[in-house]
Amino acid sequence: MTDSDLRLVAYCCEHCAYAAADLAGGLRIQYPPEVNIVQIPCSGKMDELIILRALEDGVDGVMVAGCLPRDCHYLEGNVNAQKRVERIKELLVQIGFEPERVEMYNLSSAMANKFAEMAKEMVEKISTLGPNPLRKGKNER
Ligand code: FES
Repeated sequence: MTDSDLRLVAYCCEHCAYAAADLAGGLRIQYPPEVNIVQIPCSGKMDELIILRALEDGVDGVMVAGCLPRDCHYLEGNVNAQKRVERIKELLVQIGFEPERVEMYNLSSAMANKFAEMAKEMVEKISTLGPNPLRKGKNER
């Protein structure tokens, strides 16, 4: 079950998650349209400000998807991304914001089904939380 009013962003490493999403599309594996995919060179490219800015702009949920452990093409980009996501979650708790709105995932380029599953899982979770409270009055459609 999805809420079509939700907007999520999935920052996907081009070497794995983005390719998995592309494969899912090619195989016609359905995943929620609420998830907007942004291709990035490596999950390690994500910094806290990009994620926080997305939330500030009213995005309901942010996914960061990188290569499997030890498969990052830049060695430790996915490890650094995981640490950043954990730091953001701690910060969100401190400011009274649901930390579940940001999640990190790891997958390979062949994991089209897993990509679809993680997108559905995230949309369902955000659906339970409801819209980003920062969106109210700012980016409402
Ligand atoms: Fe994919 Fe670094 S190259 S997470």
